[in-house]
Amino acid sequence: MYDFKIAAADKATLYRDLASALDGLVAGEPDPVANMANAAALIWETLPEINWAGFYRNVGGELVLGPFQGRPACIRIAFGQGVCGAAAASLQPQRVDDVHAFPGHIACDSASVSELVVPIVGADGELIAVLDLDSPARARFDADDEAGCVKLAEILAKAL
Ligand code: SME
Repeated sequence: MYDFKIAAADKATLYRDLASALDGLVAGEPDPVANMANAAALIWETLPEINWAGFYRNVGGELVLGPFQGRPACIRIAFGQGVCGAAAASLQPQRVDDVHAFPGHIACDSASVSELVVPIVGADGELIAVLDLDSPARARFDADDEAGCVKLAEILAKAL
C-alpha cells in the first residue's frame, strides 16, 4: 500500500516531500503509463486548489492526452496551441494567472482559471510530455510552484 500524506508547513518543504515521494513511486518501474498515472494521482492528492492534474504526451509531434486526474479533457493539442502547446513548442514552463486572457487557450473545464504547464524533456533534448496543472483559483501558481514542478518534471524525464 502506498500512503503518502504530505502535509507541509511551507511550499519548499511540500515540493521537497512531493519530489521524494515521486522518486520512490517511479523507482525501478520502467512503464511510462504506470509512472504517469501514479504521478498524476500523487500530485492530485497532494496539491491544494487544483481541478486537473495530468499529462499530454508527445506522439509524433502532437500532444495526446495521457494519464490524469480531473474531468475528461480534450484529447489532441497541436504544438503552439493553447498553454500546453506553448510549453511544448518553446520547451519552457508556462505559468498563466488567468487562462481567459491567454490567446488560444483551450477550455476543457470552464472552472479552470489559472494553469501551470511544465515540459518534460529527455536527455536527447526532445519533448517527452508536458505536465499540466489547472486551478479554479486565479493566480494559483507562483514561482515556487513552478520551481517545484520543474523538479518533478526532471524526475519524470528519467521515468518516462
Ligand atoms: N487548458 C489547456 C488544455 C488542457 S486542459 O486544461 C486539461 C491548454 O490551453 O493548453
